[in-house]
Amino acid sequence: MKIAHILSLIMLLLLLLLAGIGFQRFRGDAEVGKRLAENNCGVCHDMTPNRKNGKGPYLWEIYNRPAGVVDFPFSPAFRKLAEEKPFLWDDDHLERWLLNPTAFIPQTRMAQHSKEHPVSFDGMQSSGNRKDLIFYLKSLQ
Ligand code: HEC
Repeated sequence: MKIAHILSLIMLLLLLLLAGIGFQRFRGDAEVGKRLAENNCGVCHDMTPNRKNGKGPYLWEIYNRPAGVVDFPFSPAFRKLAEEKPFLWDDDHLERWLLNPTAFIPQTRMAQHSKEHPVSFDGMQSSGNRKDLIFYLKSLQ
């Protein structure tokens, strides 16, 4: 094989590798998403098929689930929105919710802390992290 052939083969392999990495970023990274979910959501949300409620409702099969339908004592603000303007937890809604829950539903309990529940979730600033997290949430089914 000529050296030029070998070089173009190497270039081709490099291109394929880069395309693969690009594709991975486009789809989101489920491993990173899982870690983010465990660290940021796990204290309040069960993400297993056990479907146990914690401070928050269980998140198994959350992707494309209608908001507020599981048997959980949602806050009045959350219930009002889910009843008056029902919506599904698709990419757009998860994205808005995870960026800033109080901007989405001002009185939501997810962002409030109390004596019984000292932790709260104020939002995730990194768009890359939100993408990875949502990618992982889709796998919970
Ligand atoms: C401090 C506890 C807490 C943390 C941390 C938390 N949540 Fe929540 N979450 C709640 C509560 C409480 C509700 C119900 C909100 C209400 O009733 O206003 C909720 C509701 C939700 C809902 C709506 C579920 C439904 O059935 O409509 C989704 C989706 C959600 N949380 C996702 C997440 C994700 C993803 C994370 C991690 C990034 C997270 N939450 C972190 C407490 C939490």
